[in-house]
Amino acid sequence: MWPAMLRSELRTVETVRPATLVAGELCVPGDKSIAHRALMLSSIADGESTVRGLPDGDDVRATMACLRAVGVRIAPVPMPSQPSQKGGQGRGFTVTPPIGAGPGRGFSTPHGTLDCVNSGTTMRLLLGLLAGSRIAAMLDGDASLRRRPMARVIEPLRAMGARVQSSDGYAPLSLVGTRLQGRYHALPVASAQVKSAILLAGLSASGPTTVVESFRTRDHTERLLRIMGADLRASGMAVELRPSHRPLAPLQLTVPGDFSSAAFWMAAAAMRPDWSITIRGVGLNPSRIAFAHLLEAMGAEIQMDVSAETGEPLGSLRVVGQSLRAVHLGPREAAEAIDEIPALLVVATQATGDTVVEGAGELRLKETDRIAAMVSGLRRMGATIDERRDGLTVHGPTTLQGAAVESQGDHRMAMALAIAGLVAAGETTIGDADCVAVSYPEFFQHLQAVTDAR
Ligand code: S3P
Repeated sequence: MWPAMLRSELRTVETVRPATLVAGELCVPGDKSIAHRALMLSSIADGESTVRGLPDGDDVRATMACLRAVGVRIAPVPMPSQPSQKGGQGRGFTVTPPIGAGPGRGFSTPHGTLDCVNSGTTMRLLLGLLAGSRIAAMLDGDASLRRRPMARVIEPLRAMGARVQSSDGYAPLSLVGTRLQGRYHALPVASAQVKSAILLAGLSASGPTTVVESFRTRDHTERLLRIMGADLRASGMAVELRPSHRPLAPLQLTVPGDFSSAAFWMAAAAMRPDWSITIRGVGLNPSRIAFAHLLEAMGAEIQMDVSAETGEPLGSLRVVGQSLRAVHLGPREAAEAIDEIPALLVVATQATGDTVVEGAGELRLKETDRIAAMVSGLRRMGATIDERRDGLTVHGPTTLQGAAVESQGDHRMAMALAIAGLVAAGETTIGDADCVAVSYPEFFQHLQAVTDAR
């Protein structure tokens, strides 16, 4: 009899009970970041691409719907077998760009607004993809996306000649495609979304486009562009894209599992000596795995085995819990592990010492203000946390207490607080929990699977 169980009370409330054991093996849904990029780049390739392993989450669905609305044909390919209950191969699609001479030249003006729903990656990358097209489009999203800053991407695109209007730097955004000129961009914020939007715009620009980052961010766009034959050079912190007369080659890609989703299971296993989890088929791109190194620095046992490299390294990841010590994240570590910080803060409540996160103001600009949301959720559960404008300090270790907490509609808050519930005394209820569907619709089934069985 395993006491770690959960049940749905209302449609949007999930209850997590304390676990005596976290153990098992699973596959997580396909990588959201790679999926958005693979779909967008396939939509301007020279022929039909096949992308397998796409996650079924709402964010990637939003990208697919927007691309279809501008004339891209996206059709399911038959699956070799049904995905297993503990995760699986995800969905496969063929992507056929509309006919047109040059990247995005065949897109058609959509009938309605392009609804990016909750997905910042969709909105920012789409803006870059469409900026050099011949269409006009309105891009919008839900209330959360309307609160997220878009000036960071509008300004560099305008410097290339893009015609974009916003509501004071926020969505809704109105775009009229036009001819673009390549430029040199030194990015003031470390953002893979901004870098990628600029590179996507650079594909249809005349002259080279250069992006220089302050901290290295995920390089999925660069990897895919290279696979597709783009003339792209990376050196130090700079990436340069030169216009090429050769069209982009279609993709044949299987998207690896999402490391950022795997992070929640890694965090869960790390929190108690002898809890353990193995995640198979997960992306192990060096620009994404900072969280694994941070957990290791905290004392967890981590084994990463890269088994394949088809443009993106993937393999298996095993985490065994040990007694934990606090860790210090400066601005570079914070940028590298930005999506995993909520999970890290939960682990920090179980580590001895003060875990300090600095230079992480970007966390306040995600689907919700993740500093405020984690401070509020973890304090309700009894954690001792100091909040600062651009970071926080978790004083550990603490015995967490089950509590009623809120996801604030943010998928990563819901998952991080659910993991906290596994080491709390008593039940934890997570309000508005079905927002996990943004990246990981099967999250609560998987939680049950790894807390029930050895
Ligand atoms: C992403 C980049 C990051 C990350 C987001 C996905 C991407 O955002 O937080 O979840 O796919 O490029 P920023 O570019 O805003 O840092």
